[in-house]
Amino acid sequence: MPLVNTKEMFEKAYKGGYAIGAFNVNNMEIVQAITEAAGALNSPVILQVSAGARKYANSRYLIHMVQAAIENFPDLPIALHLDHGSSFELCKACIDDGFSSVMIDGSALSYEENVAVTKAVCDYAHDVKARGRYITVEGELGKLAGIEDAVNVSEEDAQFTNPDEVLDFVTRTGVDSLAIAIGTSHGAYKFKPGQNPRLRLDILDEVSKRLPGFPIVLHGASSVPQEYVKMVNQYGGAMPDAIGIPEEQLREAAKRAVCKINIDSDIRLCMTGSIRKHFAEHPDHFDPRQYLTDARANIKDLVSHKIKDVLGSDNKA
Ligand code: G3H
Ligand code: 13P
Ligand code: ZN
Repeated sequence: MPLVNTKEMFEKAYKGGYAIGAFNVNNMEIVQAITEAAGALNSPVILQVSAGARKYANSRYLIHMVQAAIENFPDLPIALHLDHGSSFELCKACIDDGFSSVMIDGSALSYEENVAVTKAVCDYAHDVKARGRYITVEGELGKLAGIEDAVNVSEEDAQFTNPDEVLDFVTRTGVDSLAIAIGTSHGAYKFKPGQNPRLRLDILDEVSKRLPGFPIVLHGASSVPQEYVKMVNQYGGAMPDAIGIPEEQLREAAKRAVCKINIDSDIRLCMTGSIRKHFAEHPDHFDPRQYLTDARANIKDLVSHKIKDVLGSDNKA
């Protein structure tokens, strides 16, 4: 099947009490590992591309690699999504390039500015007559702490989503899904040692009371597997006290209104740990196919675990 948008995926996920994994892709091995895991488990999947990924890999390469994955897994629903689109122009460029879904991240703007830019993207993306297809749009309300290429929000500036704003925002913009801030954050250092890592599921419930049946998105949802933190540290890395979101809490969110769970840092960690270990154990290796084979296999295992044990999206394709 061709690329799909996220509409049907989210409708089924909401009703079924599970979530779709949205995994960031930056190179061929990552695209292969994610889609092989999703293919083997018959799971719908979202491949997402950030502005940083477009810059690193060149958007064309990523689009064609995703196209290759579709040819390899013709029965799998796969969406190609822009992660953290920072402007109307960037969203438009990705839509014009064939992406099936985009995020417009106006969370750093004032509420009214966020409404205006999100509505402009929705008007463009949803114009089926002009575009020939319906591109789904994700908006964001609330501010997550952490660092991405495009945004750097300090802990003091982070803000939980205000449930009293969500109905107005969704109604005025026409967004298809909404990312909210309930205690997740970007990167590998989400909590400090000794802190109780808890999501504000009460805010999620307040949001979904105001938006019954509406798909909610969680960014910054890596669990930072300690197995890979240890591997990085054991083999020459320095990632002290990297702590993520407990997987049981993500599973709980997936049973509720959360239909999309974003995971990037876990893949980075898995890839880095695997490569470091490979180098330490095989100092004579210098063929990238040797160490990238290990990394790709471990990412596939990691994504399989997420699909089966956290998202619950296996056999839902
Ligand atoms: O949320 C951000 C993603 O982890 C993408 O990160 O902007 O460094 O590619 P990036
Ligand atoms: P993590 O840093 O927790 O993997 O979050 C990824 C993300 O939100 C991508 O948009
Ligand atoms: Zn994000």
